[in-house]
Amino acid sequence: MVAPVAPAAARRRRAPGERGCGDGRVWGAILFFNISPAMLETIQWTDAGVVMIDQTRLPFEERYVTCRDYGEVADAIRTMVIRGAPAIGVAAAMGVALGVLRADGGNLDREFDTVCSTLAATRPTAVNLFWAIERMKKLYGSLRGRPAAEIRRRLVEEAKLVREEDIAINRAIGRNGAPLVPDGKTVLTHCNAGALATAGYGTALGVVRAAIECGKNIDVLADETRPFLQGARLTVWELQQDGIAARLITDSMAGHFLKSGQVGCVVVGADRIAANGDVANKVGTYSVAVLAKENGVPFFVAAPVSTLDLTLASGDAIPIEQRPVSEVTHVFGVPIAPAGTAAENPAFDVTPARYVAAIITERGVARPPYEESLRKLG
Ligand code: MRU
Repeated sequence: MVAPVAPAAARRRRAPGERGCGDGRVWGAILFFNISPAMLETIQWTDAGVVMIDQTRLPFEERYVTCRDYGEVADAIRTMVIRGAPAIGVAAAMGVALGVLRADGGNLDREFDTVCSTLAATRPTAVNLFWAIERMKKLYGSLRGRPAAEIRRRLVEEAKLVREEDIAINRAIGRNGAPLVPDGKTVLTHCNAGALATAGYGTALGVVRAAIECGKNIDVLADETRPFLQGARLTVWELQQDGIAARLITDSMAGHFLKSGQVGCVVVGADRIAANGDVANKVGTYSVAVLAKENGVPFFVAAPVSTLDLTLASGDAIPIEQRPVSEVTHVFGVPIAPAGTAAENPAFDVTPARYVAAIITERGVARPPYEESLRKLG
């Protein structure tokens, strides 16, 4: 049992007569607008451009950047100013809309293709990037022959909708996942699958938030998530903003805590889920999943249906991003290994479906065998 956590901000805000679990739609909406709105504005469409909180600076500096053209959106995705599969999808949709809005109109079709291919070349693993670009392409195709002003307007509206839908989807994931979280225990998570990784509320951390809204007494163990430190920098910061109790651990401590009996479940996000239920997520997730199974702790994946890639039979076909080895040999620019050290930096790994107890989506909870359950949801 964990020590009772300080009353979470979410629970304090429940007014007399308001219902919690089972009334997630209403309660989720109330909650979203009450939680520290400044923190949750991961990405917004504004007249000046696409505004994002700079996740490379957090938690030391709360700085917002404005991307004024699609190239700047692409740079922001590539350099991880914005990161996390759903947030990358929203950014891509807004990048496409911005590209069309700022196009000089000479040959809109050609410019549209350039915008889409530039954004698609930013990061390879999160399928939400390609899902969002496809969605915008489909709309653009359906508007063929319409006036340019109408095309621009419709694409901007669609990009804003992708963002709004993402928040609603995360609330639904939270509602579906909350009943799976054991009360009085700790949730272990890896990387950041929270508000910062989405348009708001989060997937894995959305499940945590929803469980707390239901009155569950839980806290969070956050893996630091070497080498980019999304757990230490982002997850801990985000949970602190909400008053949700979180303890930071190094990645190598996960096994120790999973064996301790205090962890009720693991909840992580995903970047791409194959038809057989194999899950690509931040590197280190696989090790956590194996350790969870070894210790009888259920390992849950929380992700929107847009993260499913049912065109891939298994996780073997998921492209794994290789990032600069300087992220491994250095921490905040300071070398931690001898000069000239050879290193590897795969940004993601694939957890085989046999380690995944359930995949929590906005449409419901998929259980093994995933070939059947995911196809029903997808
Ligand atoms: O490299 P990142 O920070 O984009 O990786 C993020 C993750 O691996 C997240 O766990 C995943 O995208 C799910 S976010 C809801």
